[in-house]
Amino acid sequence: MWVSLIGFMASGKSTVARALGEHALLDVRDLDTEIEDAAVCDTAGIFDREGEAAFRVRELAALERLPAAADLILACGGGVVETPEACELLRDRGAVVWLDAPWEVLRRRLEESYVAARPLLAQGWTDVESRLRARLPLYAATAHFRLRSDLAEPRELVSRVLTCRLRHARRFGSPTT
Ligand code: S3P
Repeated sequence: MWVSLIGFMASGKSTVARALGEHALLDVRDLDTEIEDAAVCDTAGIFDREGEAAFRVRELAALERLPAAADLILACGGGVVETPEACELLRDRGAVVWLDAPWEVLRRRLEESYVAARPLLAQGWTDVESRLRARLPLYAATAHFRLRSDLAEPRELVSRVLTCRLRHARRFGSPTT
């Protein structure tokens, strides 16, 4: 069963996924890395050369390539919910956990850790905030679980995500739990 972490940029998906890998010894994948490896190009380069729509196509293709029956933790890019087929696939594969945090927290974190892998930030804060607002209903509709990522340490979030995984497996069944 997959446990897919979704949520806006800087919501803590990669940090929590890494911590899950360390503490729960689960296989961790990062969707942006999968896309970049396949494209042999970094995220900024893909946006630059091909545009956002092409990045979304690559994102869905990367999801489709991941082993459907594997037990893994997947840190998704913040925009994965903009592709309906991707949302459907994530829900089919297992539990989807939304790491949510208020805009003020996300913006502060984004300001403190500016990275080239987030080309959308070049659009300016007003547009970035609008993106978040537009995506909130998509995160809500895609996720089975919502966790506030700004109110707990990564260690605590690890145990909450594992609880989500267990609850999901009990409810929907899983070949491995
Ligand atoms: C994006 C988020 C990024 C990356 C790309 C697009 C988005 O991932 O996929 O820059 O549309 O929100 P993170 O959420 O890991 O920063």
